[in-house]
Amino acid sequence: MVKIGVSLVVTICALIYPVHLLDNGLAQTPTMGWLHWERFMCNVDCVNDPHNCISEQLYMQMADIMVQEGWKEAGYEYVCIDDCWLADERDSEDRLQPDPTRFPSGIKKLADYVHSKGLKLGIYQDVGNLTCAGYPGSHGYYDLDAETFADWGVDLLKFDGCNFGTLDMLVEGYKYMSRALNATGRNILYSCEWPLYLWPFHQPNYTDIRQYCNHWRNYDDVYDSWQSVKSIIDWTASHQNLIVPVAGPGGWNDPDMLVIGNFGLSWDQQVSQMAMWVIMAAPLLMSNDLRSIDPKSKMLLQNKHLIAINQDPLGRQGYRISRVNSFDVWERPLSGGRYAFAVLNRQEIGGPRQFPLLLATLPSWKTCHPECSVTQILPSYQDLGVQNLLSALKLTINPSGTVLFTVTLNEGLAAEQKWNWNMTKKQKTPNSVF
Ligand code: GLA
Repeated sequence: MVKIGVSLVVTICALIYPVHLLDNGLAQTPTMGWLHWERFMCNVDCVNDPHNCISEQLYMQMADIMVQEGWKEAGYEYVCIDDCWLADERDSEDRLQPDPTRFPSGIKKLADYVHSKGLKLGIYQDVGNLTCAGYPGSHGYYDLDAETFADWGVDLLKFDGCNFGTLDMLVEGYKYMSRALNATGRNILYSCEWPLYLWPFHQPNYTDIRQYCNHWRNYDDVYDSWQSVKSIIDWTASHQNLIVPVAGPGGWNDPDMLVIGNFGLSWDQQVSQMAMWVIMAAPLLMSNDLRSIDPKSKMLLQNKHLIAINQDPLGRQGYRISRVNSFDVWERPLSGGRYAFAVLNRQEIGGPRQFPLLLATLPSWKTCHPECSVTQILPSYQDLGVQNLLSALKLTINPSGTVLFTVTLNEGLAAEQKWNWNMTKKQKTPNSVF
């Protein structure tokens, strides 16, 4: 009987909490930082392009600016190296080594420098024999590479999946590296691309992936274009039933880097990328040139209201709730019973369009009963006042732009109304003591 009771409790718990946490305690909220790939790619030409090539100087400069220009204060913490940092060969003891001309001081010195600024250092490797750009991969050296990263003081590993061999090797390699990182005893956040490489063959097992990774890429590399950003948003919406439930503190879906502040997105499209990454509880890893970013993009990336939503402690990923008349409506549940909404205008012809939003039609309509406070955050901050279920908000949204707002239950009024209602009920109850 007791046994049945215990197993019943275990089963119920497993049903309520089907997600197992990677036990490194990291990424309780989505990771924030800077990652070189989209903007700097595999530029190894330090002779002709010393300012933009992949070298220790690039990360030191980014670290300096992250402290000086408010990025660190806003929450951006990880300075991350991507592909193309390695020398062509391992050293005589099979250890990885950085390219000696581009990283003359070595990674440990670079990590010390980044740590001295109160920031963290991320590095890149690959589960297979070669990285995507053709440098030595980790296959066959998982333990040694994990120890090397820990010795150097690395804080994050982006583990790519090029050249993986068989599917078994891919899956086992990702799991092995997760255990190897844990075994070093150093806190190393583990960023995977495991599902991205599985999708061409079969649907990944996300419960499994979450047990080993702190975040995971699902879909194509982001490019500096609206087409690319849109395709990532659409992929996410069309797979939301599968991938949203698995996201939460300790493990996140990674839609790839923010390309805000580069060349390809209009202002409204930058607003849309930021809004959607915030709603999707995505890691906020910027890939841009912080040394020359324009002030407007900087303000958008450092917006504290947006960062607070992205980093909300409830840790629930948002989802698309409707697609109507070329408007996509997304919602994200937040702590304290609040919600964030994003309405994206998908029409790319004509001018700004109005979207009439009747609060009573939202799945989370109860937040506005009896009253709620609505605050618009994008494209500009605006208090939209106290609203109720009969309110129709008239949102004006530019082509490929987004309006993002939060809705907070008006607690005082709700409590008062509940009290009144209880009192009426009590007075009406025949055997009431009153
Ligand atoms: C893959 C990854 C990218 C980047 C490159 C580096 O394409 O998905 O994010 O790391 O490799 O070669």
